Amino acid sequence: MIVPEDTVSLADYERHFRARAAPGVAGYVTGPAADGLTQRANRAAFDRLRLMPRSLVDMRGASAALSLFGQDMPYPILIAPTAYHRLVHAQGERATVEAARLTRTPMVVSQQASLSLEEVAAPGGACLWFQLYLRPRRDETLALVRRAEAAGYRALVVTVDAPVTGIRNVEQRAGFVLPPHVSAVNMADMIATEPVTGAGSPVFRGMLDHAARWEDIAWLREQTRLPLLLKGILNPDDADEAVGLGVDGILVSNHGGRTLDTLPATIEALPAIARRLRGRVPVLLDGGIRRGTDIVKALALGARAVLVGQPVLHALGVGGMVGVAHMLTILQTELEVAMALTGRPRLADIDETVLFAT
Ligand code: LAC
Repeated sequence: MIVPEDTVSLADYERHFRARAAPGVAGYVTGPAADGLTQRANRAAFDRLRLMPRSLVDMRGASAALSLFGQDMPYPILIAPTAYHRLVHAQGERATVEAARLTRTPMVVSQQASLSLEEVAAPGGACLWFQLYLRPRRDETLALVRRAEAAGYRALVVTVDAPVTGIRNVEQRAGFVLPPHVSAVNMADMIATEPVTGAGSPVFRGMLDHAARWEDIAWLREQTRLPLLLKGILNPDDADEAVGLGVDGILVSNHGGRTLDTLPATIEALPAIARRLRGRVPVLLDGGIRRGTDIVKALALGARAVLVGQPVLHALGVGGMVGVAHMLTILQTELEVAMALTGRPRLADIDETVLFAT
């Protein structure tokens, strides 16, 4: 698979992906919730921020490295969990994890991966975290956690912003259906949640009767020693409650604009959460990261690291393992250039003074 020569940015990967992917697959991968207001806001909010450089700074020994939950990372960049990598490339998550290993990028593997969590971990050499939703049955949740522990995953990321799927009009119009060779194999043995029968809304009396609650987070905290992060937090009250229950990290996310449309951009929600938590646990952010300068802006407003989701699928679809590794390298380089040109030799030097106050 040849990456077109004019692919020099993450936006280029998206453009080529949209041109090449089957309409249904493109609709699923790139499709936002409803009118796409939140998905566009994620980008627009980054674009509104301006950077204010310092010149002639001593940049000797510059480094973008950090340590997170005891894990050394060369860059504050992780691969966000996204479902079904085999939708866009025959090798699926096997290609993604090889790119993660080569670029030393931690990868959060989705519960809805199209290869088993053991298969993704088998080659070794990559730093892997596991993302899951709490299952209606605790024994099923626990089985996933134990499998992730046994396979060497080093953190758990529980997604809390999607007890039901959002209104995905773009995906619906594109007529997306999962092809027969792609499925959520990690959940193959699990008994599907039986919708509640009888009168009443299928949303309220189906999925939501089984939706996770805070008591389930408290329970999960007791079940594992792995670092536990909650993904999909926008409200400082939720961040506070999570930390009170012993959660180790907060991932500020609006699911890439794919759950509830009209939620705030993640970079807009970040400052209040960072202020409330005051460094008690690391705060991470995803949603709309497409440039190294976006990473500087996120770190300036209180994030320790960021994740990219949709760009990984774009690059995987366009160029397989090489595409993903190239895309991540582009982002790493852009971050280094942004640090050099703002005069910030280390991540700890990136604070609100790097933002231009209008
Ligand atoms: C999505 C689900 C899989 O965003 O999280 O499609």
